[in-house]
Amino acid sequence: MNLTPSASSVVEGPSAPVTVPRHVAIIMDGNGRWAAKRSLPRVAGHRAGAEAVRRTMQAAVDNGVEVLTLYAFSSENWRRSEDEVSDLKGLMRFYLERELGTLQKEKVRLKLIGEPAAFGNELYDRLQKAVAETASNDRLTLVIALNYGSQAELAAAARALAQGARDGTVDPDTIDIGAIENLLHTRDLPPLDLLIRTSGEVRLSNFLLWQAAYAELHFVDTLWPDFDEAAFAAALAEFSRRQRRFGGR
Ligand code: FPP
Repeated sequence: MNLTPSASSVVEGPSAPVTVPRHVAIIMDGNGRWAAKRSLPRVAGHRAGAEAVRRTMQAAVDNGVEVLTLYAFSSENWRRSEDEVSDLKGLMRFYLERELGTLQKEKVRLKLIGEPAAFGNELYDRLQKAVAETASNDRLTLVIALNYGSQAELAAAARALAQGARDGTVDPDTIDIGAIENLLHTRDLPPLDLLIRTSGEVRLSNFLLWQAAYAELHFVDTLWPDFDEAAFAAALAEFSRRQRRFGGR
């Protein structure tokens, strides 16, 4: 992944031309509050959140977005109760099984970032299988961040470069932005154009810190389970109105 301006596609609409972001990422926040408002257990919020994933994936396909990256489980989420972690794992397994057909039908390629092996062999093998089975799909790349943390990702890149310098395979003088990007989990993805966070929280929470350097940020009060096609379209419309300068004028 590089940070040079992304060639977002321009679609001529009935009035002004619309710029569609190539790569959209979402911090899906607010499942717990959605459930609490209804006096439901947290898992009900996550279940409703999985439906929002389905709607949003379809909206991304329909709008011609190339990559949709979703923060499904952060490296800090292990601090949640054992029950909640197990519910989230169960939901991912269920979603994978139920949605694999849709991924194939809509030509969606699944990709993982983070350290998903920590979820145990059973879920990890299923995830890897779905990644392999959808590898040649070319309409949308759905990237699920699982056990992902941006600081750990950057530390691993620094470690790899330092080891290379020690072994003599990396000349420290040649370490540039590209050298770091080539070691990030997002290295084969287009630059991040738009980062959305739901539920009214206004922070990045260790998600794609490097990649968001020139991304447009969009914060909405909507709780993730209520996020839908209209909310996604509103975010794209807002993106289209932004003037991106990438540090220039
Ligand atoms: C944040 O809400 C949400 C999560 C930590 C998990 C996201 C998971 C899903 C949307 C479901 C399954 C995912 C896939 C890819 C099928 P929160 O629990 O932090 O909400 P709160 O801040 O209101 O408590």
